[in-house]
Amino acid sequence: MSQDAVSQQAGYRFAGSTAIVTGASRGFGLAIATALVKAGATVAGVARDADRLAVAAGELGAGFVPVPADVTEPGLPARLFAGLRPALVVLNAGAAPTMRPLPEHTWETFGTVWETDVRQAFEWCGEALRTPLAAGSTVIAVSSMAGLRGGSPLSGGYAGAKATMRFIASYAAEESERADLGIRFLTLMPMLTSVTDLGKVGVAGYAQRQGVSVPEFLAARGAELRAEQVAEAVLTLRAGREPNGSAFTVQAQGLELLR
Ligand SMILES: NC(=O)c1ccc[n+]([C@@H]2O[C@H](COP(=O)([O-])OP(=O)(O)OC[C@H]3O[C@@H](n4cnc5c(N)ncnc54)[C@H](OP(=O)(O)O)[C@@H]3O)[C@@H](O)[C@H]2O)c1
Repeated sequence: MSQDAVSQQAGYRFAGSTAIVTGASRGFGLAIATALVKAGATVAGVARDADRLAVAAGELGAGFVPVPADVTEPGLPARLFAGLRPALVVLNAGAAPTMRPLPEHTWETFGTVWETDVRQAFEWCGEALRTPLAAGSTVIAVSSMAGLRGGSPLSGGYAGAKATMRFIASYAAEESERADLGIRFLTLMPMLTSVTDLGKVGVAGYAQRQGVSVPEFLAARGAELRAEQVAEAVLTLRAGREPNGSAFTVQAQGLELLR
């Protein structure tokens, strides 16, 4: 379904709205920012690499505003929320895990993703409630299907970090309901895919572990999730009316509500 069709079907107007997308310099984040700009939103795209953000701005035009910053920078969400009053915040920035078996991890390599992804969810969801964002706004935490079931045994703290992002979003949803703030907190859990830099690291690690080539590993997994499908999922969730605190998987086969 096209982005226009998605937004029209749900009756939500992206045109004229403001969104913040973290990790917007590449991968899922760039695809999400692109889809939002195409749908008529103004997107503040956060990432550390100012050069890549400038390239994105050159391609997307005035609808994309680069914000070169580290998502863990103290005070960043408060500053952006106060200045931009976003209707949508997509917490997508994420650190690539170090792929190695448990006994070869140090506490530092194990915890990298916690320091970026979990800290981002903690600081930004907390600030969304404290500011607070306007009633009717939505915060989407980009977690991972690695945070379900058996986790992701080669990637240290990655799976636990992504599961904790889902918990944080659900806790924030509960606080929003209790204070009648009208802010929705949702979690999106994509499947592993080699179409992004981060995904390539995971796929290479698991292919090596199984003693197969990357193409062999991918062929055995079936259809790959595309970044555009993650972007479409974000627009669908923003435009929809799913209950506060809901979590969804997104795979090549589509978007699914977790029950
Ligand atoms: N690809 C997959 O298979 C997969 C599956 C499930 C979930 N996910 C999740 O999806 C999200 C996006 O991942 P991706 O696959 O698109 O990875 P990617 O292509 O490596 O992109 C990661 C993005 O996050 C930004 N980033 C990382 N650390 C940051 C920081 N401290 N401050 C600001 N920006 C930061 C990067 O920009 P800079 O380096 O310029 O800062 C980049 O824009 C992540 O949360 C990831 O865990 C990915």
